[in-house]
Amino acid sequence: MNKILLELENRRSKAKKGGGKDRTVSQHNKGKLTARERIEVLVDPDSFEEFDMFVTHRCNDFDLDKQTYPGDGVITGRATIKGQIIYLFSQDFTVFGGSLSETNAQKICKVMDMALQNGAPFIGLNDSGGARIQEGVSSLGGYAEVFKRNILSSGVIPQISVIMGPCAGGAVYSPAITDFIFMVRNSSYMFVTGPEVVKTVTNETVTSEDLGGAKTHTTKSSVADLAFDNDILALREVRKLLSYLPSSNRSKAPSRKVTDDPNRLEYSLDTLIPNNPNIAYDMQELINKISDENEFFELQKDFAKNILIGFIRLDGDTIGVVANQPKILAGCLDVDSSRKAARFVRFCDAFNIPILTLVDVPGFLPGTQQEYGGIIKHGAKLLFAYGEATVPKVTIITRKAYGGAYDVMSSKHLRGDINYAWPSAEIAVMGAKGAVEIIYRSQSLNQEKIKKKTEQYEERFANPFIAAEKGYIDDVIMPSSSRKRLVRAFKSLKGKKVNNPWKKHDNIPL
Ligand code: HXC
Repeated sequence: MNKILLELENRRSKAKKGGGKDRTVSQHNKGKLTARERIEVLVDPDSFEEFDMFVTHRCNDFDLDKQTYPGDGVITGRATIKGQIIYLFSQDFTVFGGSLSETNAQKICKVMDMALQNGAPFIGLNDSGGARIQEGVSSLGGYAEVFKRNILSSGVIPQISVIMGPCAGGAVYSPAITDFIFMVRNSSYMFVTGPEVVKTVTNETVTSEDLGGAKTHTTKSSVADLAFDNDILALREVRKLLSYLPSSNRSKAPSRKVTDDPNRLEYSLDTLIPNNPNIAYDMQELINKISDENEFFELQKDFAKNILIGFIRLDGDTIGVVANQPKILAGCLDVDSSRKAARFVRFCDAFNIPILTLVDVPGFLPGTQQEYGGIIKHGAKLLFAYGEATVPKVTIITRKAYGGAYDVMSSKHLRGDINYAWPSAEIAVMGAKGAVEIIYRSQSLNQEKIKKKTEQYEERFANPFIAAEKGYIDDVIMPSSSRKRLVRAFKSLKGKKVNNPWKKHDNIPL
């Protein structure tokens, strides 16, 4: 008996060594944790249950049968994060560069199937040289098996990818299908073809970091949501993100005990809006002040900064926030901000997370760049996402709500449940000056008359009361009471039940 117990211990110990001491040192020298160390940081202590630790590859080509490592370059299993069950894989770069073999893919697929069946989030820690070159098409097939599960899990369980090393070729498409991507600065990159191929095909000279590093993907391409300075920070933020999410689309968004008073009044909000409507203010301040413990988990903070997205809690309940940011491009909607917000709204809707929309939007950004970039279709994505969403939707218009952008930003007409405005709200087809120029174009008014007509237009339309008279706004509220009103509004919507007409799936303008 003792012999067999010893055998188990020996086998486990061998598996835990991964690709050996030298390769582990090399991993550490690159500033990266090993696959097992990453799991330790990510999950609750003593909660990790590993599967398939003894699996090895079955490839005999290129003398590979002489090189086998138990586990075959990926660690998979189940654990808890803050008590919530999750499934994960962590690629071990010290074994064949974390490359994906047939058996390695089977291990990943096994835990993906468990996560989907049991309704638990799935987290992938990516650090891999891509398809195992010696295995050829078997590893390509393995990738497609992973993609298929990513697709089927989409909208059923939250999927999070952390990129902690190379991620290249078709391998990038698994993370791309997942809901959130975090990257580590200076040690991770994602691209479809690397710098050498780029040089050959387009004659561009570019480094891996510039082509597909964390900065590129969080500021330019928007492929990744957040970037962190090291593995530990990235993994800790995954824990935090997960605390806002339900386990699956079958569960409600989580609720947490908080000490913050739901009736807290914030008098400083009564003076947040500057007297001059052309002067910007920071929408982030409003979000922080209304949230439990002033906490806002912001996503995509370095991309399309004219719109803010992320999670807050209101009296303990997770709420998704979409807010125009008047500090950047006056908070207008453009291609990037529409895309950014639309995907987030759809995530919230898929996972039963109520949506708070804070509106200060002068309209869509005009110009050839926007039109050629397809603002019509991208703007329609956001419009579509709000219109189809059946989760509770509460809106506050703080200042401008002009033109089509008024409709888009969770208006009553797109099934906003409760729509508030601050007294400073201006709800109209367009700004007063532009409106007067069009209405009186044929009358060639002098400057003085234009000024007078503009003032008249402002007096008539630059307020929330016309919309409130029509019932498009449910109430005009004091800014200082926003938190209290929002907490009550979302509580009142807890029993909301709306079904969209039956369809196989919709055809959102992609
Ligand atoms: C097998 C691999 C491997 C791979 C790396 N290794 N990538 N083994 N298949 N794809 C092994 C190396 O042989 C080496 O083994 C160890 O991992 C570490 O690799 P190094 O090159 O020493 O590390 P580093 O200098 O950090 O460079 C990392 C790298 C480089 C940039 C990832 O290894 C590389 O370019 N690898 C090939 C990448 C690639 O072309 N992959 C296929 C992409 S196509 P030893 O024994 O020396 O430690 C693809 C298609 C997917 O993935 C399609 C899905 C649809």
